[in-house]
Amino acid sequence: MIIKTHKDIPSSEITDEKVFNERRTLIKAMLATAAGASIPTAWANNAKPNAWNVAKSDLSNAALTPTPIELVKNYTNYYEFTLNKEDSTKLAQNFIADPWSLEISGEVEKAGTYHLEDILQQQTLEERIYRFRCVEAWSMVVPWVGFSLANLLKLAKPLSTAHFVKFTTIQQPETMPNQRNKVMLEWPYVEGLRIDEAMHPLTMLAVGMYGDTLPKQNGAPLRLVVPWKYGFKSIKAIVKIELLKNPPLTTWNKSAPAEYGFYANVNPAVSHPRWSQNSERQLGSGFFTSRRQTELFNGYGEQVASLYQDMDLRHFF
Ligand code: MTE
Repeated sequence: MIIKTHKDIPSSEITDEKVFNERRTLIKAMLATAAGASIPTAWANNAKPNAWNVAKSDLSNAALTPTPIELVKNYTNYYEFTLNKEDSTKLAQNFIADPWSLEISGEVEKAGTYHLEDILQQQTLEERIYRFRCVEAWSMVVPWVGFSLANLLKLAKPLSTAHFVKFTTIQQPETMPNQRNKVMLEWPYVEGLRIDEAMHPLTMLAVGMYGDTLPKQNGAPLRLVVPWKYGFKSIKAIVKIELLKNPPLTTWNKSAPAEYGFYANVNPAVSHPRWSQNSERQLGSGFFTSRRQTELFNGYGEQVASLYQDMDLRHFF
C-alpha cells in the first residue's frame, strides 16, 4: 500500500496485554460451540481441513488447505498500529476489544447500537475457509468464523433508499499509536460496499479464525471479510455500519484514488499502477515455489460475476 510518512513506535509504548473480561469469555465460549471444541490445536498444526469433524458452511472452500496460523497472525496490515507487517502482533495487544458495541444507522427502519454479544446470540456462527488476496500481491487461505453480513443487515430492515454500506473502524488513540500521531492515513479507517455486495452471502462479518476468537492484530473483535475483493476492503475492528444513499469516500480511495478504487475486485487483468496483479505470492509457500496465478474475483466469479455484468472493470477498478 502507498506509504506517505513513517514513524517507529517506541518500545516504551508497549505494555502488558490486558486481561479479557467476562464478555470476551462469553464470545469465546460461543465460538467453541460453533466451530467445534477440537479445532484450535489442529488448525495450528496446519492439519488438513478434511481431517476435522466440523460443520462447515456450503460457502466454504473445503478443499483448500489453510495457511499456517502463525503466518496469518504475524504478518498483518494494521496501519493504526504500525506500517510494519510484523510489529502489530505486539503493538495491538493493548487494544481494548471488549466490551464492544456496534452502531447500525442511516437508511434503515431499525437503527440502533448493540452489544456484540447480543448480536452474536442472534446469529449462527459458521466456519468458512476463504481465499484472501491482498492488493500487494500476496495471498493466504483463512478459516474464518462468523456469519453473513446480510443476516445482520436484514434485522435492521434496510430502506429502498439504502444503496451503499459504509463501515468505520474504532478510534482508540490511547492504544493505536498511529491515530495519536496522525501517521499516514486519515482516521478512522473507512470502507464501503454497494448494497448488493454487502447482501451477498459470501460477504461475512468475522469474529474468529482457526476456531478461536480473532487475534487483536487481525481485527478483533469484529471485521469484514469480502473474499473476492482485495484485502484492504476487509476492514477491522468495526464500530459503525451505515446504510447510505450515496457511495462513501473510503480511506484508500481517498488517499490514492488512482491506485485504489472503490470496487477493488481481484482482477489479474487490471494492474496496479506500480505492479502487476497477474500472480500472487502465497504466504507459507517456499522460496522456490512458483507464484500462484491470480484468478478473476479471486476464484469466486461463479458466485459474484453477475454483480458486475455490465460494468467495465478497468474503469470501475
Ligand atoms: N482495517 C483497518 N482498520 N486498518 C488497516 O490498516 N488493513 C487492511 C485490512 N483492514 C487495515 C484494515 C489491509 S491493507 C489488509 S490487506 C487486511 O486488513 C489485512 O488483514 P490481516 O492483517 O488480518 O491479514
